[in-house]
Amino acid sequence: MHRKLSTLTGAGLLLGVSALAAQAQMVEPTTPPDPPAFPAQSEPVFVGISDILEYRALPEYHEPEWVTEKFVKTGKLPPVGERLPKEPMVYKAANMPDGIGDYGGTLRHVIGGRPEGWNYIAGQSQGWGGIDIGMMECLTRTGPLFTIRAEELQPMPNLAKSWEWSEDGHQLTMHLIEGARWSDGDPFDAEDVMFYWEDHVQDPNVTPLNGASPANFGEGTTLEKIDDYTIRWTFKTPFPTEYLYQMAYGNFCPGPSHILKPQHPKYSDNTYEEYKNAFPPDFLNWPVMGAWVPVEYRPDDIIVLRRNPYYWKVDEEGNQLPYLDEVHYRLSTWADRDVQAVAGSGDFSNLEQPESYVEALRRSAEETAPARLQFGPRTIGYALQMNMSANGWGEPDERAQAVRELNRELDFRKAVTMAIDRQRLGESLVRGPFTAIYPGGLYAGTTYYDKESTAYYPYNLEAANALLDGLGLKDTDGNGIRNFPDGMADGQDVEITLLANADYNTDRNLAEGVVNMMQKLGLRVILNLQQGASRDALYQSGRFDWQVFRQTPEMVTVVQNTAMLAPTGPHVHQFHRAGPDGTLDLLPFEEELVEIVRSFVRTQDLGERAELMRRYQRVFTENVYSVGLTQYPGALIINKRFANIPAGAPIFMYNWAEDNIIRERVYVPEDRQQDYELHPQTLPGEPGSDGPLT
Ligand code: GLA
Repeated sequence: MHRKLSTLTGAGLLLGVSALAAQAQMVEPTTPPDPPAFPAQSEPVFVGISDILEYRALPEYHEPEWVTEKFVKTGKLPPVGERLPKEPMVYKAANMPDGIGDYGGTLRHVIGGRPEGWNYIAGQSQGWGGIDIGMMECLTRTGPLFTIRAEELQPMPNLAKSWEWSEDGHQLTMHLIEGARWSDGDPFDAEDVMFYWEDHVQDPNVTPLNGASPANFGEGTTLEKIDDYTIRWTFKTPFPTEYLYQMAYGNFCPGPSHILKPQHPKYSDNTYEEYKNAFPPDFLNWPVMGAWVPVEYRPDDIIVLRRNPYYWKVDEEGNQLPYLDEVHYRLSTWADRDVQAVAGSGDFSNLEQPESYVEALRRSAEETAPARLQFGPRTIGYALQMNMSANGWGEPDERAQAVRELNRELDFRKAVTMAIDRQRLGESLVRGPFTAIYPGGLYAGTTYYDKESTAYYPYNLEAANALLDGLGLKDTDGNGIRNFPDGMADGQDVEITLLANADYNTDRNLAEGVVNMMQKLGLRVILNLQQGASRDALYQSGRFDWQVFRQTPEMVTVVQNTAMLAPTGPHVHQFHRAGPDGTLDLLPFEEELVEIVRSFVRTQDLGERAELMRRYQRVFTENVYSVGLTQYPGALIINKRFANIPAGAPIFMYNWAEDNIIRERVYVPEDRQQDYELHPQTLPGEPGSDGPLT
């Protein structure tokens, strides 16, 4: 391996000094151009967290009348007061855009993914589009933070209703909601939390879907149960408030231990694979802490969810939430989600594929349009990521190994980035002021972005080609494709596979654009288009040379998924994870990024944090850690009959819009309710039973 690497650098050294100097001239980075102006269409109302919610007991509680009549009076369900925790979460009416809501109503989502099963915490996808977000509740919550005043910005309480730090800042004691229950009536307590932590985060054989690993919470961090409703974290560094963000959606949403534990390999004869697959999508009435429970599943058609009778949140008048009785997830395509939301046969879409912007905008501008469409900030972005592991992650063959070694050469990454014509790439998706040049790293327009610290290598095909010549990558057989130098992959053509998600037109189009642009560089890039779940599996196991990736929140907010900003642990990063021996072969600049990210987590000083992120951006972009492709705004499309949609809710920031809108408070005014319910006046049944309880 090392022999080959030196072959490559050796070839570079064969170039004369003057040629190198001339070349260096051509590749001087500049700062990126400013993105075209695109003002967001509505601004959030900024408030404090305590303006939104509190935890307290109310003198009386209410529920939909049919629940009392059909289920409580017949003894099928205890009275609502007994189903709620001692002190439920109470949403304040003054912060609800349209006030206290009406019961009833159905929200019809459309999604492009397919459910693998319900075992999210063992790595199964439910198909995205918010279905998992809606079923799960997490220790803290971040989605609605877009509306929180900067001075008061910290994660919102959720399953953890409060917390306090020890004097030295190494211990964090959290108080869980007391007396809340899973949707099947089983108590929720510290056992669920510890089962998630010990047997999922800490167990290297299981990875929750979002990839939660010990690194997300700091190496050496421990968690213990103090009593049924108290847990205590111990951290190596003082006051790492950062980790409160990691306890939100994605990384710390416990599953129902009463159902899961008996199937976990530690407590049964199951293998890890059997455990993961123990709850397929047709296992109905899966117990949740979220507002709705899956009661019907028809493959490639629909998942229907009904209200959770044990949901632990209420409004100020004591009405148990959610207001909406039923939620649908139509199993279709992502593009169809836009089409249906605009047409009114679906209710919700994150308009995020620029190919449909013009048509969606045109239709939504008509007075008779069934849905409102509102653009937010430019927080959707794509990058080309290269697999940086040269020590075996994903078990590369000889060709793939040679590609990994190229990926680790700065001149190679520079050549690739300079061969990307970002203007053209953006315009190939949509014309107009939407897409912006994205060099990589933190997004322009976000809190920690600093233009002066951003190195941008403008499109320059000639210089890009010169760099590859310099690396000794010559087209030795005259077929238009460069060959590996002698001693690397038998000097064969440089062929690189590009993994991309086939479920999105945008991912396809960007990937095809990359393929074409690389051809001009003499690199043969072969598209590996895979449907969502298999794409995820390939990238999670490191089986890719390059991938086109729609980025996760760390590039927007920095404070969310912070550990993923660099390879801070063996299995935490998107394109550089440990080889089979558990070690990471980091390049010097990656070590620097890791150190910057660790320092960021250690300090609460805002000035220091800003400075660290400027350094991060500089090191990241100068070294072309990933090749930015494009960055653009998304729009939230919601049917006009829905009330309590907060102003300025972005489709993506700390989380997706499905969380940002505070779905449990959303309602349909009674006079606008339509007959969309498929299982009216029913509630979730026994876990694993056939359907809803009638
Ligand atoms: C998918 C969609 C996003 C959003 C998320 C929610 O990724 O593309 O718009 O709905 O699911 O997890």
